[in-house]
Amino acid sequence: MPPSERVFSGVQPTGKLHLGNYVGALSQWAANQDDYENVFCVVDLHALTIPEAIDPKVLRAKNREVAALYVAAGIDPDSATIFLQSQVPQHAELAWVLNCVTPLGWLERMTQFKAKSGTTESIGTGLLDYPVLMAADILLYDTNFVPVGDDQRQHIELTRDVALRFNHMFGDTFVIPEPLIRSSGARIMGFDDPTQKMSKSIGEQKGTHSVGLLDPPDTIRKIIMRAATDSGRDVHFDTAAPGVLNLLSIYEVLTGEKRADIEARFDGQGYGVLKRTVADAVIAALEPLQARYAELTADPATIEEILRRGAERAAPIAERTMERVRAATGLG
Ligand code: TYM
Repeated sequence: MPPSERVFSGVQPTGKLHLGNYVGALSQWAANQDDYENVFCVVDLHALTIPEAIDPKVLRAKNREVAALYVAAGIDPDSATIFLQSQVPQHAELAWVLNCVTPLGWLERMTQFKAKSGTTESIGTGLLDYPVLMAADILLYDTNFVPVGDDQRQHIELTRDVALRFNHMFGDTFVIPEPLIRSSGARIMGFDDPTQKMSKSIGEQKGTHSVGLLDPPDTIRKIIMRAATDSGRDVHFDTAAPGVLNLLSIYEVLTGEKRADIEARFDGQGYGVLKRTVADAVIAALEPLQARYAELTADPATIEEILRRGAERAAPIAERTMERVRAATGLG
């Protein structure tokens, strides 16, 4: 029997995709794909919220790079729907309708908006409205589960609140989605500064911050060997310094080893051994991904075809939801 519950998730095609994106999101999508019907979107409309980072040629190339990374990470493009957000116009249409039921105060409270708007001189309306478009992405597909990293938790809560409010105002229209967030590895921190979440934008500026999914093995090793730890030797998940815990969590997710075994393995070894072993595990996890990526992108027509088929499958689902929304609200 085909799975009856649907998963939806996405990545914004800006900056360099990093190990945090893989551990928190892509690896989770791939591991659970047989349990659900899967829809994975490259959210290029969201990318326009940081206009200073956008050059049309770069965005077009990034869209294809991110889609290829989905497949390279193990998502099966024959069974999953992989597509570009801008190729299904219902995303923008539903975002408008949801704007009209979302109180401004809900958006002003979003921590990502507060953090991003603090570092930008001129803030576009799109940055404030970002979570509403994200709610539209999720609700269009009658999504049951949204696998994401911990930083997206608040956006999924907002999606649920917006859906409940709409259902209350216009009658039962949307499925209320649940987040799927890893218990470990849902917030990978920067290697240079373990108090800061690993992020694509910092990774673009600082070579020591993150490991890129397409970085060569010697670069990966160099970055991890320079990771900030502390002067002690503690390797326990409950008590280790933040930089050490970050390395332990990456190792735990990538190898699937039990915490007690990991603690026993590194006990008394010193952080040099921990870093070397984590670097080996990261290189081993990314090697097959990089090989598949090279194979896939050797012929650009392969990704174009995956995206064409994906949009063709996504559009009728999105349109069915929009028909319900138009009927419920009296539009059209
Ligand atoms: P984005 O592009 O910032 O990140 C993509 C995914 O990677 C996860 N992630 C992390 N996980 C662990 N540790 C980290 N340091 C880390 N950094 C990022 C994110 O949680 C995310 O799962 N708003 C979303 C994109 C989006 C979306 C959606 C996601 C738009 N519409 C609908 C799900 C459903 C974003 O900017 O993710």
